[in-house]
Amino acid sequence: METLTINKPSKTADFLPLNGTDHVEFYVGNAKQAAYYYKTAFGFQSLAYSGPETGVRDKASYVLQQGKIRLVLTTPLKSSDPIADHIKKHGDGVKVLALSVDDAYDAFNQTTSRGAVPYREPETLTDEHGEVRISGIKLYGETVHLFVERKNYNGAFLPGYEKMDVRYNPSPTGLLYIDHCVGNVGWHKMNEWVNFYEDTMGFRNILTFDDKMISTEYSALMSKVMSNGNGYVKFPINEPAEGKKKSQIEEYLEFYEGEGVQHLALATHDIVETVTVLQSRGIEFLSVPGTYYDDLIERVGHIDEDLEPLKKLGILVDRDDEGYLLQIFTKPVEDRPTLFFEIIQRKGAKSFGAGNFKALFEAIEHEQELRGNL
Ligand code: FE2
Repeated sequence: METLTINKPSKTADFLPLNGTDHVEFYVGNAKQAAYYYKTAFGFQSLAYSGPETGVRDKASYVLQQGKIRLVLTTPLKSSDPIADHIKKHGDGVKVLALSVDDAYDAFNQTTSRGAVPYREPETLTDEHGEVRISGIKLYGETVHLFVERKNYNGAFLPGYEKMDVRYNPSPTGLLYIDHCVGNVGWHKMNEWVNFYEDTMGFRNILTFDDKMISTEYSALMSKVMSNGNGYVKFPINEPAEGKKKSQIEEYLEFYEGEGVQHLALATHDIVETVTVLQSRGIEFLSVPGTYYDDLIERVGHIDEDLEPLKKLGILVDRDDEGYLLQIFTKPVEDRPTLFFEIIQRKGAKSFGAGNFKALFEAIEHEQELRGNL
């Protein structure tokens, strides 16, 4: 762990106070079917809808919720819509990482005055439920951050959306909140985006993994974890590093056709229960060799969980100075090998499972080989 650095929190004033993640919006080819997938497989619940039936002519959006996690699945209704260009280029993927703020106008001014590129000028949206103030800046690739201020709003989601009451509501799977969102950036672009988060958003680099630590026989990557002042929002960033063969980050960049969100980590209080249900509903996870568990307790020390269910489900364990964490990764949830999900349960640990990277990357390389992309 010698290449792992945990920096101390800064004591300077936070010019961009964040309350957490407001929502994540995906652009998808068929939002109706994507909503069915996230409800059926992951246990999200229908919250709100906007589309032709609510007076929106050019796109349809389904808002789903589980715990504090809100996903928005948006599809264009015509090929002339710019969202269609996004989907043609990237496939289904994350367009918006929306952050909850107390002042969306100030968030826009604070970030753009420090060099962020505007995506959406601040505006106030109103309906009979109150007002939402919203603004946005550009991020890596075609991804964006929105700032959402909803303290004077009590509608289902945003003005323009209607509460969605449906009879089909598969039970939740124990997912609680977004632990972190990871982005993949291009060759030698890491520092540009680290500087972006530091300079324009006031984030700090709290952990660094270099290519000596994150490498297997074949591929390598570098990763830096950026956190906002209060630690509510964490955005790790990956860039490819030279290896013998094509790294998973290169494979992503090739098939997403650019930089973008690689994975969303969703937290649970009971990973064994959550993953058992997710598997029964058809979610496919990466599996590590059974030998991973042979010396697990020697590596991570005592854990509260029985080893057998972890081994059966393929759940990984790692420890840092403050505790341990349990985690597992899905296979990509699109046919393009792009976005996937992580399920994570933290028991004190504040890190990201670096001790599992080697076993995990070997599992990913096995999948890359099956796809002919190694
Ligand atoms: Fe992660």
